[in-house]
Amino acid sequence: MPDSSAASVNNQLIDAINTQTLRPVLAELVADPAARTATEWDRISNASEVVAGIDRAVDGEIIRLTSLLTEAGVTFDTMSAAEPDRVLHIIALAVPWGLLESTASVLEAAGYHCSLRDDRARWGHFAGFNNTCTFIGSDELEFRVQLSWGSPGGVMSKIPAQLRPSFDDLDAVPLPAKLSGLYAVVKPVRQVLGKRQPGATALGPFLGTPDGLIAELLEFSGVAEGAELVDLGCGDGRVLIEAAERYGCTAVGYETDPTLVEAANTAAKQSDNQRVAGNVVVHLADAQTADVSTADVVFIFLPVAALEVLVPDLLQRMKQGAVLLAHEQERLSTSVEPDARLAMVHPSGITVAHKWSV
Ligand SMILES: C[S@@+](CC[C@H](N)C(=O)[O-])C[C@H]1O[C@@H](n2cnc3c(N)ncnc32)[C@H](O)[C@@H]1O
Repeated sequence: MPDSSAASVNNQLIDAINTQTLRPVLAELVADPAARTATEWDRISNASEVVAGIDRAVDGEIIRLTSLLTEAGVTFDTMSAAEPDRVLHIIALAVPWGLLESTASVLEAAGYHCSLRDDRARWGHFAGFNNTCTFIGSDELEFRVQLSWGSPGGVMSKIPAQLRPSFDDLDAVPLPAKLSGLYAVVKPVRQVLGKRQPGATALGPFLGTPDGLIAELLEFSGVAEGAELVDLGCGDGRVLIEAAERYGCTAVGYETDPTLVEAANTAAKQSDNQRVAGNVVVHLADAQTADVSTADVVFIFLPVAALEVLVPDLLQRMKQGAVLLAHEQERLSTSVEPDARLAMVHPSGITVAHKWSV
């Protein structure tokens, strides 16, 4: 009798995702087919195929980006699959400071997006004080490019890391590009004055749950036909829309980014599917104070630090019999131990689903 139960294969995959060692762990698991049950073997071989497919896709994307950058006359220092994150669709691209703007433009034309680039003045400040930024591919691309660049030189590069402006400082004190150097004093001055941005705490940036994972996540939550599902920090509403489509859910989202709220409500209203058009609503409101008392399922995709604050509070406020479902690649602290976990390895994304039953 093999000593590895399906549960322990699941746990090994979860640990591997948490520690970003999925490829070596799968290589070990796959080497001993005789020790596996049929179900375990299916799971292991599917995951191995997915990871090999992602590796091939990343190699192909590196060739495509190399050609686009070369055509645009941009020479870069290095481009590679970011080891050991290769299975996470991440490409590391390093460029000299002087080629940062043109590289970013090529990435945008290739379908990548960095929210900071929408505001060129803000991007200029950010690039002067920092050395790296992640460009996220569209849903069709499924890749991320970690762009890093050399030092800009001059006064900005000499400012110690703890005094460099955060996104919060850039938002709180918008300055024209020419006055970038003044950000050297914005952070200390704000700290001294103890000023806080009014409004909701930003729990994490927008990053949509990969479309290919949503069905499996909903199934794992055990959501029933006609249930009420709440997505806290719902982004563009993709989870709500799929929950309404598949299960006829009353699907309610809370989101602080007005552009995303508008996009989600518009997408829902314009859907040809009556189950979506009539059942999805997104509020421009803070997820932390959202009413979850009637929800059957609460869905969250936010960074671990936010989950560790939100989960204990939500479990107090949700009704009996409800389910809280979160997904995240990083390990959660034991203070928020879930009742069940499932490793999900899919061509469009890799994650760990955590489920709490109230
Ligand atoms: C990682 S995205 C998840 C989007 C969506 N739930 C999904 O899975 O596709 C997190 C979202 O939470 C939003 N957010 C951050 N802080 C928030 C807060 N205090 N209240 C509501 N939404 C917030 C962000 O704007 C972002 O769209």
